[in-house]
Amino acid sequence: MRIIFIGAPGTGKGTQAQWITNQYNIPKISTGDILRNTVLDNTELSKKIKKFINYGKLVDDNIIIRLIKKRMEEKDCHQGFLLDGFPRTVVQANELKKNKIKIDYVIEFLLQDELILKRIQGRRIHTKSGRIYHITYNPPKIENYDDVTGEKLVTREDDTQEKIKKRIQEYKIFTVPLIQYYKYESILGNVKYYKIDANATALKIKNNIKNILKNSY
Ligand code: AP5
Repeated sequence: MRIIFIGAPGTGKGTQAQWITNQYNIPKISTGDILRNTVLDNTELSKKIKKFINYGKLVDDNIIIRLIKKRMEEKDCHQGFLLDGFPRTVVQANELKKNKIKIDYVIEFLLQDELILKRIQGRRIHTKSGRIYHITYNPPKIENYDDVTGEKLVTREDDTQEKIKKRIQEYKIFTVPLIQYYKYESILGNVKYYKIDANATALKIKNNIKNILKNSY
């Protein structure tokens, strides 16, 4: 099963990706997580990536494509994968096509900008694993500490109001055209395209996605 999640920042893609990976035994490939972990190394590449992320801008297509290709070559991707945050531009989508990587489902998450801000401002993450919490909607068992490792949670550096606005703007410019791209692919019968109302509880969204995917398993 090969799935793509598309949606503006903070619409809950990463949150839903967490259970899918366990339930369907496919890895979640989050380009955001890959980039944040790459940034932890002190290399020329990491400095470059950090600049893009800290401006709330999309990272250069060439860098992303290189990182994602490397990740997809890993053994755990052979049975399928969930792409969370990739592709984000038409250039990135074309790269999948060029490499004959067939996608089964594209699921778009829809949420109003005001709610996005509210959700992102309360987010805390465990960087190494990519586990996601929210101070109100999904708090950890012990305030500010990861449930699994007991390590400290952090607020992402790009989760400030100003950067969130910039990221939403980037989404509208570069990723929204991708929605037309996949709608067209769905008309051609190449993918199944679904929209999800992300203004619902995480459980309700989970059940909606389960219904979408149930015919495959
Ligand atoms: P990335 O990490 O992918 O960030 P994003 O797309 O901006 O998405 P988010 O992680 O902000 O949100 P999400 O939809 O996963 O929401 P979440 O589940 O956490 O990318 C970061 C940066 O990396 C980009 O800005 C860019 O620079 C770069 N980048 C990444 N991929 C790239 C690419 N392909 N090309 C170029 N550059 C790239 O939920 C948000 C909060 O809400 C959480 O606190 C959660 O607990 C809570 N929540 C979730 N669901 C619900 C619910 N139903 N009800 C209440 N609260 C909820």
